[in-house]
Amino acid sequence: YEDELTHLTHKQNDSLDEFHRSYEAAVESVKRELGEFYTLEIDGESVETDDHFPVEAAGDTDVTIGEFASGGEEEVDSAVDAAKNAFPDWEAKDPEERAEVFTQAAEIMRERKFELAAALSLENGKNRTEAMADVDEAIDFLDFYSREFTRSNGYQFDTGEPTPGQHTTNLLRPYGVFAVISPFNFPMALLVGMSTGALLTGNTAVVKPASVTPLVAQKYLEILDEAGIPDGVINLVLGSGRDVGQPLVEHEDVKGVAFTGSREVGLGIQETFMDLGKRGPVIAELGGKNPVIVSDEADLDDAVEGVMKGAFSFSGQKCSATSRVYVYDDIIDEFTDRLVAETEKLDVGRPEDRETFISPLIDDGALDHYLTISEQAREDGTVLTGGAEVSDPDLPDARYVEPTVVTDIPHEHELAREEHFVPFLTVHPVSDLDEGVEKSNDSEYGLCAGLFSTDDDEIDRWFTDVESGMCYVNRSQSATTGALVQAQPFGGWKFSGTTGKFAGGYWYLQQFMREQSRTHVK
Ligand code: NAD
Ligand code: ALA
Repeated sequence: YEDELTHLTHKQNDSLDEFHRSYEAAVESVKRELGEFYTLEIDGESVETDDHFPVEAAGDTDVTIGEFASGGEEEVDSAVDAAKNAFPDWEAKDPEERAEVFTQAAEIMRERKFELAAALSLENGKNRTEAMADVDEAIDFLDFYSREFTRSNGYQFDTGEPTPGQHTTNLLRPYGVFAVISPFNFPMALLVGMSTGALLTGNTAVVKPASVTPLVAQKYLEILDEAGIPDGVINLVLGSGRDVGQPLVEHEDVKGVAFTGSREVGLGIQETFMDLGKRGPVIAELGGKNPVIVSDEADLDDAVEGVMKGAFSFSGQKCSATSRVYVYDDIIDEFTDRLVAETEKLDVGRPEDRETFISPLIDDGALDHYLTISEQAREDGTVLTGGAEVSDPDLPDARYVEPTVVTDIPHEHELAREEHFVPFLTVHPVSDLDEGVEKSNDSEYGLCAGLFSTDDDEIDRWFTDVESGMCYVNRSQSATTGALVQAQPFGGWKFSGTTGKFAGGYWYLQQFMREQSRTHVK
C-alpha cells in the first residue's frame, strides 16, 4: 500500500523513504515522552484535578500513553466562564486577524506533522498512512476554512442604501460559547475541523475529545497557543461523555454544539438542547452504514480492491467505512471469491509497523462487539473469512482481529442494518441496479455510498437515485472512504447528520453564525 502514501508525502516533497524514516524517528521520539501527566487547559492555564485516568496505547495495552486529569461539572463551569469572558474581544477582532491564528497553526502543524502522526498511531492505533492522512486533513481544514472565511470577508456585506439615507449591512455573527465534542476515530482532523469552524467565526469554545484520545488534543492546544490564540478562547476539558460532555451540553451559557460521533449520542444532544429550550445550532455529524453496488459492468479488479480497502482500512472504524455490498447475481461468486482471497492477504499488525494495513480495535468494548456479531453471523449466515481474534504470539496484548466477510445474511438482518464500527462486511446478491439502489436506500443512514460500473447509464441513474451525501463511482483506492477537504466536502443525509452542510465545504462555516441585518438611517 505504499503507493497510497504518494499524495501525502507529495505535500512535503519527501521521498517515500524519507517519509518512512521521519515517521519511524518520530515514533521513537514520541515513545520517549510517553507516560507523562497531562492537565486540563482553562483560560490559558494548566488545571489539575483530583481524578486522573490512564490512557493505554491502542496497539499495546502494556504501554501507557499518559495519565490525564479528569474533569467534572466544576471544571466545565470554569471552562465555560473563561470562554464566555473571552467572547466579546474575540468576536470584535477582524476576520483576517482571527484567520491568521489558524493559518499560523497550520504552519506549525506542517512542521510537526510526523510527531503528530506518530502520537496518533500510538494513541488510537492508526497505521502510518491513516495517521498521516488524519493530520493532513486537519491541516487542510485549517488552511481551507481560513482562506474561505477571509475571502468571504467574514460574511459581512454592505447592501448599500435601499432608500436614500438608509444604510444597510447584512452580516453573520457568532453565537457565543460552543461545545466541541469529538470522537476517537479522527482525533486530530475532527477536533481541529470542528473547533476551527467555531472559533474562526468568532465563537469561543470548550472542547472535549474522546476519552481514549486526549494526547493529540493536548498537542493541538499547544499549537494554538504557539499560534497566538488569546487565553480563554479555546479551553480543554478531558473526561467521559457522562462527566464532561453531558454537563457541557446542558450548561446554560453554551449556545451551540459541534459534535461528531455516534447517532445515539448526537441525537441525544440534539434532544437535550430542545428540551432545555436552547435555540442555537447542534451541528452533528453522525454514523453511516455505507453501501456499495457492484454491477456486472464493473471492472472487478477495481471493485475488489475498492471494497476491501473501504471496508477494512483502520479496521472499519470509520464513519465512511464500506459495510454492505450489493453484487449482481451473475458475478457475485467470482467477486466474493476474489474479495476473500485478497482480504486474507491483508497484514494485521502493530499500528507503527511499516507493513501494517489492519491495526487494532480501539478498546475492549469494540472487541466484544466484534466477537458478538461474528458469532451471530456464524449462526445466522456464513462467515467466509475472519470472525476471530488474530492469534500471533509476536503481537502485543491488544485487540487485533481478522477482517471479516459474511454472506447469506438477509438484507433486513441487523448485522446488515446497524453500524458496527469494526472490520465486518456483509455481501448480498441483487439482480440489477434498481434492486441495488432500493436496498442501498433502505437505511436510516445516508453518509457514503459507492458504485462500481462502467455503464454511463447506470452511473447517471445511480447518482440521481442514491440517498447519500457522499457518492463515489469506481473508486478503487478506497470505495466510500477518504474524502479530501474542499475537493470532496463531507457529510450525510438522513440520520447521518443533522444540518446537511458538509465539513470541508463552502457552507460549513456559516452554520456557526446567525444572521443580522443592520439598518442605520443617517
Ligand atoms: P461516541 O458517540 O461514542 O463519542 C463521541 C464523543 O461524544 C466522545 O467525545 C464522547 O465522550 C462524547 N459523549 C459520549 N456521551 C456523551 C453525552 N451523553 N453527552 C455529550 N458527549 C458525549 O462516538 P465514538 O465511538 O467516539 O466515534 C465513533 C462514531 O462516530 C461512529 O458512529 C462514527 O460513524 C461517528 N463518526 C462520524 C463522522 C462523520 O463525519 N459523520 C466522522 C467520524 C466518526
Ligand atoms: N473524511 C473521512 C473519510 O472520508 C471520514 O473517510
